[in-house]
Amino acid sequence: MIDRNAASLDGDTEDGGRDETAAAMEAVRPIPRISIQAFCESEPVARQIERAGEDRRMAKAHVRVHMGGIRAAVEHYSGAPTPNLVILESRAGAEELVGELESLADVCDPGSKVVIIGHHNDITLYRDLIRNGISEYLIAPIAMPDLMGVIATLFMSPDAAPLGRTLAFVGAKGGVGSSTIAHNVAWSISKLFNSDVLLADLDLPFGTANINFDQDPAQGIAEAVFSADRMDDVFLDRLLSKCADHLSLLAAPSILDRTYDFAADAFTAVIETAQRSTPIVTLDVPHVWNDWTRTVLSRADDIVVTATPDLANLRNAKNLVDTLRRARPNDRPPRLVLNQLGMPKRPEISAAEFADPLELVPIAEIAFDPGVFGAAANNGRMIAETDAKHASVEAFHQIAYALTGRSEPRRAKRGASGLFERFRRK
Ligand SMILES: Nc1ncnc2c1ncn2[C@@H]1O[C@H](COP(=O)(O)OP(=O)(O)OP(=O)(O)O)[C@@H](O)[C@H]1O
Ligand SMILES: [Mg+2]
Repeated sequence: MIDRNAASLDGDTEDGGRDETAAAMEAVRPIPRISIQAFCESEPVARQIERAGEDRRMAKAHVRVHMGGIRAAVEHYSGAPTPNLVILESRAGAEELVGELESLADVCDPGSKVVIIGHHNDITLYRDLIRNGISEYLIAPIAMPDLMGVIATLFMSPDAAPLGRTLAFVGAKGGVGSSTIAHNVAWSISKLFNSDVLLADLDLPFGTANINFDQDPAQGIAEAVFSADRMDDVFLDRLLSKCADHLSLLAAPSILDRTYDFAADAFTAVIETAQRSTPIVTLDVPHVWNDWTRTVLSRADDIVVTATPDLANLRNAKNLVDTLRRARPNDRPPRLVLNQLGMPKRPEISAAEFADPLELVPIAEIAFDPGVFGAAANNGRMIAETDAKHASVEAFHQIAYALTGRSEPRRAKRGASGLFERFRRK
C-alpha cells in the first residue's frame, strides 16, 4: 500500500516540487508497450495519471483516462476488451468497494492487472484486495512518480513474469498458409484487444510479412540476429516497422545475398527483448527443422501448427505435435489449424480423421479461397481489410481468442464467479 500525503508532490506548481518530481522520476525506466485505462472519481487523481501518460517514459504505452470510477469501468468493459492495466479510483469504503469490484471481476479479463486508488487508509482492506489478485492499492492523493514506480514494478521488475507471450506459428508442410495465418492473427489480436503485438518474421531468406503488410523497411530481423550482442529495447525499437496502430513488424530481408545458418540460440536475445517490451510477440517460423527452429518452438508460450488435410501433412503434424509434447511436458500441446479445406478436386482427409491421431481438436478450420487470399496477398492487405465479412476473419478472431486466453466481451453477470476470481493470476 502506498500512502503519500502527496499534496507537496503535486509537483508542477513551484520549482521545489518540480525538482522533487524529477529526482523521483530518475529511477523510472521507460514503460513497455502496454495499454492502460483509468477510471477516476476525482480531478486530482485523473490529472496525475494524465501527467504520467504524457511523460516521455510512457511514450510507448497507450494511456486513456476516463471519469466515473468502477461503475463506469464495469459498463465500459461489458462491451470492450480490458487493457493490460486498469487503474480504478474509488472513494467507497471496504464493503462497497468489494461489491463494486465483484461486478468488475465478471467483465475483466484475467490477464489484466488492476490497481486501485482508494481514499481510505485501511490495512485490512489492502490485504484483502492483494490476496484477491488486485495488484496494488494506492491512497489518494497520488503522486505521479509513485504511480509510475508501481507500473514499472508490475511490468518490469526482475521477478515480474515476462510481459509478452510468445506465439509461434509453424506449418506442417511448406506452403500450407502458416505465415498467412500468423500475420492475420497478429493483426486480429492488435485490433480486437487494442493490445500491442510484435510480429517477427523468422523466415529470413523468403519471409512474406513485408509483402503481406506492404512494408519495405531497411532493417529488421537480420540486424537483430546478426547483432544479437547489442540487443536491447532501444536497438529493437529502431528495427521495427509499424503496420497498424498496435502492430509492429520485425521484417525479414527476403534476399539471398548470404546464407542463413543459425546456432540454436540465435533468436533468443531478440525474442526475450521483444517479450520485455510488448504484450504479444508472434513468431512466423519457417517450415524447417533444425536446432534454432526447435529451440524457438520449444520455448514459445503457445504453438500453432497449420496443416492442410493430406497424408503428408498428417504424418508431419503428428511428428511435430508428438515431438513438441515431449519437449514441453508441462505445457499445453500445440494448437492445430486446418487450412485450405475444400480445394476443388483434391481428395481430403476429414477434419475429425486428421485431428484424432493428434489427440487435438482444431481451433480453426479455414476454407480454400484463392480469390480472396490471393487478392489480399497481392495488395499487401490483411483478409479483414480485403473482405471484412469473409469466414476466415471469424476464424482468425477465434484463434486470437484461443491464444490470448481471452473470451469475447460479455455483459456483466453479478456474482457469477467467486469474489474477484477473475483477477487471480493463473
Ligand atoms: N485458405 C487459403 N485459401 C487459399 N489460399 C491460401 C489460403 N491460405 C493461404 N493461402 C495462400 O497459400 C500460399 C502460401 O501461404 P503462406 O506463405 O502463408 O504459407 P506458409 O505455410 O507460410 O509457406 P512457407 O512454407 O513458404 O513458409 C499463399 O499464396 C497464400 O496466399
Ligand atoms: Mg511461411
